[in-house]
Amino acid sequence: MNKNDPNLPAIISAVLQKPKYEHIQADLVERLAARELAKGRKTKEAVKEVSAKLHQIGAAYFKLAPQYARWLEELVTLSHDPAHEDVRAFCLQVMQAHSSTAERLSILAEFYADILAPIGPLESVFDLACGLNPLALPWMPLKAGARYYGCDIFSDLIAFDNAFLAHCGLQANLIPADIFQYEFQQPVQAALLLKSLPCLEQLEKGAASALLEAIPAKYLLISYPIRSLGGKSKGMRQTYSAQFESLTAGRKWKVTRYEFSSELAFLVEK
Ligand SMILES: C[S@@+](CC[C@H](N)C(=O)[O-])C[C@H]1O[C@@H](n2cnc3c(N)ncnc32)[C@H](O)[C@@H]1O
Repeated sequence: MNKNDPNLPAIISAVLQKPKYEHIQADLVERLAARELAKGRKTKEAVKEVSAKLHQIGAAYFKLAPQYARWLEELVTLSHDPAHEDVRAFCLQVMQAHSSTAERLSILAEFYADILAPIGPLESVFDLACGLNPLALPWMPLKAGARYYGCDIFSDLIAFDNAFLAHCGLQANLIPADIFQYEFQQPVQAALLLKSLPCLEQLEKGAASALLEAIPAKYLLISYPIRSLGGKSKGMRQTYSAQFESLTAGRKWKVTRYEFSSELAFLVEK
């Protein structure tokens, strides 16, 4: 991969000029662009391919255009207590905007109560490739003032997630970053990798195994979608069960499996 290719800057800026991708981590755009050039693609084709990949791994999940400015205005009028009814209503409304959290709403309470409550209340978490999941805070068994770390590739999304967590009194340490470049600076109790491994596979085939190994957390909560964004199930429960088994095969990790109507989850104790 040649990061000195003279066509690289034009591809990066053409992609970042598109409103859908303007808040995406520039390093990730650069990496994908360099990869397309290495395949011999011309500038225009490379812009198309990089945009398609960014759509597939990130932008496609926005069911509704995120209204960060309006949400931030609403946030300042809300209680600082995440258990407050108005905060919960706000979170449910915001989480509708992202397919991934939207399809978890019907199982949200049982999801966190069944999986994390037995090991909680937690004092520190990583939420990796988090999307709008930090808005599930009212349903998560976290201690008041817990440390909340993690990343996603959209800087505007991360700024909003951090504002919400800080409003609720957490130590909000999410950063805009590509997970493969994310530096784990301190160990935490639990890392959430919710429905992200399939996206990450589309980006870096075969890299998930090393990622799981490197995450400094006692517990990993890993989940998979059981329907595609288009709503088809296509045997995804079986496919992802097999994928998870091969990812963790040969490791002395304790695994507990959880089946929900809209998600398949595994709690790994390292
Ligand atoms: C299927 S969604 C899951 C979101 C969230 N974890 C949840 O379950 O609600 C995948 C998320 O991964 C993010 N993502 C994709 N590639 C990423 C990468 N390389 N590093 C960090 N985040 C990434 C996307 O922006 C998106 O928010």
